[in-house]
Amino acid sequence: MFSITTERAEDGPAIDALLDRAFGTERTRKLSYRYRQNVAPIAGLSLVARGTAEAVTGTIRYWPVTIGAKQLPALLLGPLAVEPALAGQGIGRALIRESLDMAEWGRHVRVLLVGDQDYYGRFGFAPAQRHGIVMPGENPERLLALALKPGAFADTSGILQPWRSVRRCSRRLKAA
Ligand SMILES: CC(C)(COP(=O)(O)OP(=O)(O)OC[C@H]1O[C@@H](n2cnc3c(N)ncnc32)[C@H](O)[C@@H]1OP(=O)(O)O)[C@@H](O)C(=O)NCCC(=O)NCCS
Repeated sequence: MFSITTERAEDGPAIDALLDRAFGTERTRKLSYRYRQNVAPIAGLSLVARGTAEAVTGTIRYWPVTIGAKQLPALLLGPLAVEPALAGQGIGRALIRESLDMAEWGRHVRVLLVGDQDYYGRFGFAPAQRHGIVMPGENPERLLALALKPGAFADTSGILQPWRSVRRCSRRLKAA
């Protein structure tokens, strides 16, 4: 039995420990972590699965990114992890489905991630390279995309960029 809720601030240490168990402690060296530095996960879309005694047994997070010179907004899904001893019970599926429903409800239109198409294909993810989207240094077959709205990737191509909220904010301050 598990329940899905939005992530709370106090879940942070349990989530980090779960991610270390699922991916190893070197996980932050992955290229996708470049997109998470100095940026908070999107509140409301970042969910946890809870088991008995409210223990965190699964986590999914989303981050804001932009695509190409036009800086089109997109969500970067990940990391997704389930307590290894509880794999295969539908926790991962429930976290993905619930969070994608919320993303759609929140009018997000494009989602990207780095992962196995064999797993994410069942949720509609397909290689992002067919839209001309690139994450420098990453295996193109592992960068996957999902449109939450028809035509979401029309005229969308280029390099995936981290969200630059700090730079934009300081520019605005200088201009004021
Ligand atoms: C991948 C992961 C999130 C799946 O969570 P889960 O709760 O076990 O998944 P579900 O119970 O919803 O689905 C299980 C199904 O996914 C399949 N599956 C799991 N990982 C897979 C992978 N990497 N590639 C292909 N299929 C995979 C299982 O074989 C199973 O298939 P079945 O339904 O045909 O039996 C979990 O195993 C995990 O945390 N893995 C380590 C971290 C990781 O790789 N995260 C994803 C990359 S960002």
